[in-house]
Amino acid sequence: MKPIKAGLLGLGTVGTGVVRIVEGHQEDLVMQTGSSLTIEKILVKNRSKERSITVGPDKLTEDPWEIINHEEIDVVVEVMGGIEPARTYILEALSRGKHVVTANKDLMALHGQEILAKAAENGCDVFYEASVAGGIPIIRTLVEGFASDRITKIMGIVNGTTNYILTKMSQEGASYEDVLKEAQELGYAEADPTSDVEGLDAARKMTILATLGFNVNVSLDDVSVKGISSISKEDILYAKKLGYEVKLLGIAERKDDSISVTVQPTMVNRSHPLASVNGVFNAVYVYGEAVGETMFYGPGAGELPTATSIVADLVAVAKNRNLGVSGRRVFTPYKEKKLRTAEQ
Ligand code: NAP
Ligand code: HSE
Repeated sequence: MKPIKAGLLGLGTVGTGVVRIVEGHQEDLVMQTGSSLTIEKILVKNRSKERSITVGPDKLTEDPWEIINHEEIDVVVEVMGGIEPARTYILEALSRGKHVVTANKDLMALHGQEILAKAAENGCDVFYEASVAGGIPIIRTLVEGFASDRITKIMGIVNGTTNYILTKMSQEGASYEDVLKEAQELGYAEADPTSDVEGLDAARKMTILATLGFNVNVSLDDVSVKGISSISKEDILYAKKLGYEVKLLGIAERKDDSISVTVQPTMVNRSHPLASVNGVFNAVYVYGEAVGETMFYGPGAGELPTATSIVADLVAVAKNRNLGVSGRRVFTPYKEKKLRTAEQ
């Protein structure tokens, strides 16, 4: 089989993990797809920056068009983050018939419809498993695993940085500022960590999960959001005394013809499994009318866990291409219909 050739936009925390997994697991990847997977070019802001992995200097570029216009590149992996220029690069890559894999929840929550429409127009795949809950394959599970059910509620901890902060404050009495700094150093936090601590990152993820789980076009404006920046060490220790842990919970519910989506710090009874989801770990409960209650747990951020989701998406692209079904888009398109929010 022809090799699958990828171009990476970004070589930060996630991009580095992708390179490591593609190199380290090449044999297993070939066994699954029959094709080798190569990374042809990598876009960075600064080619001279010191990096934690060695990449051939001719692979690094500061010119995005060397990837977007590269005739041999089949798939563009966007792991640079932010809205622009990532949105433009993705749309241009799709216009040229390249498949796209992205970890960018900001972009998929705000411009998912536009990107999926462009993919459909050009017969391309767009996969974004890494955009929610890092290493937990929750998008694939929602869309494929629960395809036969009617999902009524999705609830969980979907931000690793805030869970890391709340855990360290609760278990070690650490200060909010110190632990946030640690989460940044570990590569868990967003480039602007305000989106983590103010609940926006979790809101974007809940927008994606609710859209896919309920098959309606949920928008970011439908989500009521409160972050953890005003939670003090004293609040956490007081809750603890009463038998609770404070967690930043995302809850998306559908009742009759209305939905509500919220993200807020919540006191979780210590006997509930979510109370013992600690550190950078995430957990997502999915309730289906037929299946009942299910729970998915795993690392929600970080280099290698997040990269496993990206490389799994690359395998999906390779399998589609080899079957001649590229453009099948495993994930459902966003529907036009929009349900009322609970407040309406
Ligand atoms: P990061 O460490 O900040 O890396 C970003 C990379 O993109 C860097 O290599 C940077 O180049 C490059 N870059 C950024 N803007 C650029 C531009 N305008 N032109 C060229 N190159 C540019 O970010 P990350 O943590 O890997 O996150 C990447 C994406 O994955 C984000 O959408 C994030 O939300 C998502 N994500 C992250 C995690 C995680 O655990 N970190 C988990 C899930 C999803 P330089 O290296 O030269 O600066
Ligand atoms: N900043 C995000 C988090 C990265 O902490 O969950 C994973 O999406």
